Amino acid sequence: MLTERQPRIRIAHLPTPIEPLPRLSARLGGPKLWVKRDDLTGLAGGGNKARKLEFLIAEALAKGADTLVTCGAVQSNHARQTAAAAAKSGLRCTLVLRGREPHESQGNLLLDRLLGAEIVWAEDRPADERLVEVAEELRSRGRRPYVVPYGGSNPVGACGYVAAMEELLDQSARAGISFDRIVFPSSSGGTQAGLAVAARTLGYPGEILGVSVDLGAPALQEKLAPLATATAELLGLPEAFLPSDFLVDDGYVGAGYGVLGDLERDAIHLAAETEGLLLDPVYTGRAFGGLLDLIRQGAFDPGERLLFWHTGGLPALFAAGERLRL
Ligand SMILES: Cc1ncc(COP(=O)(O)O)c(C=O)c1O
Repeated sequence: MLTERQPRIRIAHLPTPIEPLPRLSARLGGPKLWVKRDDLTGLAGGGNKARKLEFLIAEALAKGADTLVTCGAVQSNHARQTAAAAAKSGLRCTLVLRGREPHESQGNLLLDRLLGAEIVWAEDRPADERLVEVAEELRSRGRRPYVVPYGGSNPVGACGYVAAMEELLDQSARAGISFDRIVFPSSSGGTQAGLAVAARTLGYPGEILGVSVDLGAPALQEKLAPLATATAELLGLPEAFLPSDFLVDDGYVGAGYGVLGDLERDAIHLAAETEGLLLDPVYTGRAFGGLLDLIRQGAFDPGERLLFWHTGGLPALFAAGERLRL
């Protein structure tokens, strides 16, 4: 295993299943679709952060931390899974969330509170700046904070998706299926960077396409290259990455991060009604909406086998309410 020597705790439910989507594939009449169910990784509702946290928490424990501190949006899946991982590891958790406290706790925020996390509202300040101050405040009170970076996306966290790609290649070899293309939502970059490191090292011949959820493609590619290079270096792999090594589609960012539009709404309804598969309003709804659009435009060969990597986000669906137009 590429991540063999990297400290890791085992808190995610792995390997996650790969399921075919036969009704949806038939309905679209394009490539054959499968889904990798990282929405089933556990940690209070599943998602891609569980894989990153296995490596991040191991580092936190090795450093003698007593508190995890991280930041994100009000409906951050990363914050919720960090709070769950902290509880499960006997650590305390402080979350710095963007903006002001809403009137009601729903979805991920409700779970953050249930999981015992302390919440600090960044209000008018950038959450990542407040994060540094909050960690300092904790230190001055005698606590030993470990700062989990935004989205869990540093080289240690990205190891989760190096291991995930190995898991996928192992599963596809056993099942005798090779996927021509992997599609998923990409934002802070740890998922895509980790997948790319393993894909190159292990010689995966297919295409890895990140559908950007917020950034323009050049900005995301600029973030991915140094992250992937540093992740490879951490693992002792002699690989260097350039921005052009990453395929990013930024055509579905719509009105911006977290703004639920027709693209996401239609994708969420279609996946639920045709396959009983729940997507989230911010990440997988957008990426799957993009994938559906690309299929309808004929961007892929109908003979292809295509894997949608479901990165989680279910709790945010319960905060979407009327925006889903049921
Ligand atoms: C459900 C979900 N999917 C995808 C992503 C994006 O993954 P990454 O930040 O590794 O690019 C996130 C991250 O916040 C997420 O919560």
